[in-house]
Amino acid sequence: MASELTPDQAIQELRDQLRHHEYLYYVEDAPELTDAQYDALMNRLKGLEEKHPELVTADSPSQRVGGKPKEGFTKMPHSRPMLSLDNAYNEEELRAWDQRVRDALPSTEAVRYVCELKLDGLSLALQYGAGSDKGEAHGAKDGSAHLVRGLTRGDGSIGEDVTSNVRTIRSVPLSISAAKLKAAGLPHSFEVRGEVVLPQASFLKLNEEREAAGQAPAANPRNAAAGTIRTLEPNIVAQRRLDFYAYFLLRDGEFLLPQQSTALDALKTSGFRVNKYVRALKSIDEVVKFIADAEPLRDSLGYEIDGVVIKVDATAQQRRLGFTGKAPRWAIAYKFAARAGITKLEDVLFQVGRTGKVTPVAALAPVLIGGTTVSRATLHNADEIARLGVRIGDFVQVERGGDVIPKIVEVVEDKAHPRGTKEIAFPKSCPVCTSELQRIEGEVDWRCVNNSCPARVREELLHWSARGVMNIEGLGDAMVAQLLGQSAELGGDPEAVTEEGAPVVVRKPLIHTIGDLYRLKREDLLGLERVGEKTADALLEQIKRSKDGGLARVLLGLGIRFVGERTAQLLAEHFGSMDELMTEATQEAVQASEALEAVNEVGPKVAQAIAEFFAVEKNKDLVKDLAALGLEMTAEKRVTTSTLEGLTFVLTGTLPNLTRESAKEKIESAGGRVSGSVSKKTSYVVAGEEAGSKLDKANSLGVKVLDEAGLLELLG
Ligand code: IVH
Repeated sequence: MASELTPDQAIQELRDQLRHHEYLYYVEDAPELTDAQYDALMNRLKGLEEKHPELVTADSPSQRVGGKPKEGFTKMPHSRPMLSLDNAYNEEELRAWDQRVRDALPSTEAVRYVCELKLDGLSLALQYGAGSDKGEAHGAKDGSAHLVRGLTRGDGSIGEDVTSNVRTIRSVPLSISAAKLKAAGLPHSFEVRGEVVLPQASFLKLNEEREAAGQAPAANPRNAAAGTIRTLEPNIVAQRRLDFYAYFLLRDGEFLLPQQSTALDALKTSGFRVNKYVRALKSIDEVVKFIADAEPLRDSLGYEIDGVVIKVDATAQQRRLGFTGKAPRWAIAYKFAARAGITKLEDVLFQVGRTGKVTPVAALAPVLIGGTTVSRATLHNADEIARLGVRIGDFVQVERGGDVIPKIVEVVEDKAHPRGTKEIAFPKSCPVCTSELQRIEGEVDWRCVNNSCPARVREELLHWSARGVMNIEGLGDAMVAQLLGQSAELGGDPEAVTEEGAPVVVRKPLIHTIGDLYRLKREDLLGLERVGEKTADALLEQIKRSKDGGLARVLLGLGIRFVGERTAQLLAEHFGSMDELMTEATQEAVQASEALEAVNEVGPKVAQAIAEFFAVEKNKDLVKDLAALGLEMTAEKRVTTSTLEGLTFVLTGTLPNLTRESAKEKIESAGGRVSGSVSKKTSYVVAGEEAGSKLDKANSLGVKVLDEAGLLELLG
């Protein structure tokens, strides 16, 4: 009976149950509990852990979301390089590869291939051991294995330590019991490699949020997954619902089992998610059949795939086949063709974004491509229209990758598809406010530069209120339209826009700027369509609450070009207050590459955009106004140094004060790299007592040599 259990036992039992149900849900896709039942178990665990904080361990299911990495991500070498694959684009290329494989092996040997789906995400390396990333070592006591580290592919040799984010992925086990290890035949310490993907449903949800926030949608699930895994906020990563599929099992940089197929089985038995579309096949004919069967799956899987990966099953054969340059000879990626269709370009609409950028959008006769009806495609900009030579009425080839917005790839010219006749006239003036469009020298985009253009103000307000920015609930499309004096139907109702596409103004606008939001009164809101007392009060409360978001959110909310979530955070931590940032972010400072570029990761393009933003009187006035209205515009300062960016160090011998580890840590946290061997590319060799051959090599190659004091001086 539960009441007879000690708190320790009760906690263990709950954890085991939760792990089991997580496994059923995230790995097997066969949940036995409802969400509410699962949450109830989790709440009981959290309640007990709160009462007994001394019993909390890093591998508890309650601890998936932990603290943020303090100094960004540390770089770490891979146990064995993470390579890429050569591609085959048709059956002929695939058969040629099969021939090369068989030619390279004795003719008496049979070759078996394992076919896997090629998931369109990014690869990760997960290291497991007796300890955890939090330094605990339960495994040593109870024989279990724990997630120690998760690395991105990086440049293939060195990845980034994204463990805090990997922990939030539910299909990645935080720990594996001794019993499961035994059943799978796994040792205590091993490495799993696989692909992290963002399921299509999560991708669409993310883009809906981004669009509501006036942010550019992520181009495809792969980019969104890559951005997510490098986000510095584990709680944001947890919300995005990434998924991980395992496909390699290694120990000490070598494949652990004699076959890829048995490795996949072992991974599955130990609790990893392994894609179910896997086959071990005896001939290339069977492989060709597998590929033909796999392609139609693309539209029903719920995640993107871009081909099939074929691997030689036997590790002994793999070893003999070896590598060419950056790819193994024992595997190949068969890439599917992009999904495409032909349809008619009926019209071109011009959309004005938050920054004033005018984007031409193709209105297409609806066409079914890969199971989705497509009626819009992006034409990007005026140059793209010219490059395609496309006219209204033309038949066009439309491609849909994993991308959100389909692309027009070419005009189709044949008898069945006669050329259209109407030239696409890129507007000279803004379709919404009619002010003249401008194009900055060297840029392709035409922009509406009227800061008060209703289309821009509308997008600015939507961006300000969005989730992840100011999080003002209730301030969506319809409410913003009403506050701007437009009909609440804007967006859905063609009657709500004039013939030129400008919104119809039905009453006096209540607001003209973001600052006006904070001056809204209850009476103002009660005069709007469908706004009762409850709605008005709730919105006012939300607006008031948003004042305390802090500097990073305000910076993000201002919508400065190139300043996304991460840059805003870095700027806030570097400058500590809006005053400081505005004083430093001057055009002169940018010319001298000072102040802004001292912020880690802020390059000249971003610095220029920030300085330009604060050079505009209207923007300065807005910030002043927001400060006077009581918005919080400070942040805790954190000094990050990147003085050693781009430099490679080799450590050798014993340093007088620093250990090898701490010297390495100091170099890496200042943005430098530590390598094990000296080459011409080495920037410095740091030599202590009894430095041996590495010092000799440095001297012979003319590489600069430092002692500990020299290193510390360099580190400032
Ligand atoms: S094997 C050297 N298996 O495709 C072995 N890769 O184009 C390379 N990928 O970097 C990895 N699904 O990110 C392998 N079942 C699968 C895969 C897969 C997707 C990705 C992976 C790799 C890229 C190579």
